[in-house]
Amino acid sequence: MANRYDEAFDRSINDPNSFWGEVAEDVHWYKKWDKVLDDSNPPFYRWFVGGELNTCYNALDVHIDNGRGDQLAMVYDSPVTESVKKYTYTALRDEVAKFAGALAAQGVTKGDRVLIYMPMIPEAVIAMLACARLGAVHSVVFGGFAAKELATRINDAKPKVIVSASCGIEVARIIAYKPLLDGAIDMADSKPEKCIIIQRPMETATMVEGRDLDWNEAMAQATPHDCVPVAATDPLYILYTSGTTGQPKGVVRDNGGHVVALKWTMKTVYNVDAGDTYWAASDVGWVVGHSYIVYGPLFRGCTTILFEGKPVGTPDAGVFWRVISDHNVKCMFTAPTAFRAIKREDPSAELIKNYDLSNFKALFLAGERLDPDTLKWAESNLGVPVIDHWWQTETGWAICANCLGLHQFDVKEGSPTKPAPGWNLNVLDPETREPVGSGDIGALVVKLPLPPGTLPTLWNNDERFIESYMGEFPGYYKTADAGYIDADGYAFVMARTDDIINVAGHRLSTGAMEEVLADHPDVAECAVLGVDDQLKGQVPIGFIVLNAGVDRDQGEIIKEVIQMVRDRIGPVASFKTATVVKRLPKTRSGKILRGTIQKIADNKEYKTPATIDDPAILEEIEDALNDIGLAKSRGK
Ligand code: COA
Ligand code: AMP
Repeated sequence: MANRYDEAFDRSINDPNSFWGEVAEDVHWYKKWDKVLDDSNPPFYRWFVGGELNTCYNALDVHIDNGRGDQLAMVYDSPVTESVKKYTYTALRDEVAKFAGALAAQGVTKGDRVLIYMPMIPEAVIAMLACARLGAVHSVVFGGFAAKELATRINDAKPKVIVSASCGIEVARIIAYKPLLDGAIDMADSKPEKCIIIQRPMETATMVEGRDLDWNEAMAQATPHDCVPVAATDPLYILYTSGTTGQPKGVVRDNGGHVVALKWTMKTVYNVDAGDTYWAASDVGWVVGHSYIVYGPLFRGCTTILFEGKPVGTPDAGVFWRVISDHNVKCMFTAPTAFRAIKREDPSAELIKNYDLSNFKALFLAGERLDPDTLKWAESNLGVPVIDHWWQTETGWAICANCLGLHQFDVKEGSPTKPAPGWNLNVLDPETREPVGSGDIGALVVKLPLPPGTLPTLWNNDERFIESYMGEFPGYYKTADAGYIDADGYAFVMARTDDIINVAGHRLSTGAMEEVLADHPDVAECAVLGVDDQLKGQVPIGFIVLNAGVDRDQGEIIKEVIQMVRDRIGPVASFKTATVVKRLPKTRSGKILRGTIQKIADNKEYKTPATIDDPAILEEIEDALNDIGLAKSRGK
């Protein structure tokens, strides 16, 4: 007999109009849509055309109107500042309305962009929701990116206002944000009219006369602003993510489909409801932070946790359990790397015993492959379902999950279970573009249309949207992940098909790092690839070939390229290892054999490719990797 998952899945694929139209009834609309799905201009699909709503109203005001004003909306728990601050729905709405007024006073109106470069403090969430209230488009940039990356995003989004803070805190280190922001604005061609800066007590930023405003002063003068109705298809935010070049992709999210889909996923995927406490231990700079620290839990009327800390070292590997217990968390979401960090510090999970986790019901993990060791460790020590789910910045919510609110399937190690309703997942042969048999690896693609809440396009770049996602497999969205679906319908995500790597759950482009290395005056040629790492999943390593005649100390050159990546991309790249080689292994047509180098570095068996121009180079690569402590086995 069909279960609730099967029923929902079938309806969502066979009759998306009635399925999503029904789901959308759960959202507050100023004006109902004329059409659920507009499929008149593929591959540009639009949801809830003609509808008008406000995202901030659906996140905050609607709950106050429904009698939840005194319930906690957000708990800010910050072990790095040893503070906890709680906001009811009414308190959070009042702060957001006031900051919306402050932005409006600077001329921000519907459609204007506001860039947010902030640590994990309540003002970051307040700024995001204030933009939504005005119909302005926010673009949050993760704090671990360097000034140049920030400048690239400023140039693309052209924000009228930038909201930032004097500093972030990395465990015990103060990271001054303002000099990075000032540097980025200097570098950028497009300048913001104003910056609103929150001065944190541990670091005072120098303000630029006439351009910079103090957050508190702006708030003191502001008049609360009401919600501005926007079209369902108007953009809510732009979130930049790594592409295959140094130029990041500006993923756009619309207002209508986003509210509809995310509110629904809280119940169906995560099985939480209004009044429950939900915690995504991520950062507002990533898609997980957008969807599941800020929007999803608030749309549903949950209490969300904003955590400014790390899984270990703030102060110890018990902090996750402390937060779950202190705030009665029912469901938590983080990346496997965070659990690997905890497991390394506290292998037998002694610290769990100090806390009452009786209200904790499920752990969700995503962002990278969930390795079986971490899955088993979490399952046995927490005694709750541990759910791997697979998604991307582009998709905004899970492509595959064990949808706990619909039907709990048995877990298969290495699989994020089945496609969520709305996702017509297929595996195609990359050469023939024909479906492969069950269990056979191919390109993971989704038959169009994508469900609501996904990307309608890339910011100001329809062409790149088509070229990156829609061109290769006509009629399908290319996830750029490879994998397979087994005979029971479980999906397995094996690897990226492009140069994206996943470092501590953070998505990075090795191509972007190569662009930086190639800029060093002594470097003739280079390759960067991701190698296995016990903690971070993958870390990048660089291979550089020096220009003929360069006789400088190689150690110095390596230090310089490492610093260049840190300065231009940011510490988040975790680029700490590079080695000088005489040449790079290539095919006869000149393509660098990255896959083979990667196998050597990961100590996996490899075959010397038939197309290689000179097989002896592989031994040189192996020796170079040996010198830096990688690659111990000889290939075949
Ligand atoms: N602002 C400034 N710098 C930052 C930063 C931020 N918001 N976030 C990270 N960095 C810096 C770190 O301090 C570190 O700098 P270092 O090279 O000087 O040590 C560097 O960027 C790399 O950071 P990270 O990869 O996070 O490594 P880490 O050693 O600090 O922590 C983990 C490792 C596993 C504990 C950490 O990555 C983690 O908690 N991950 C959780 C997963 C997560 O949030 N994923 C997001 C998607 S769900
Ligand atoms: P991001 O856009 O930063 O969320 O990164 C998306 C990429 O992370 C995906 O394309 C996958 O390569 C990887 N990823 C995310 N979740 C999973 C998962 N559960 N299993 C395997 N890979 C994952």
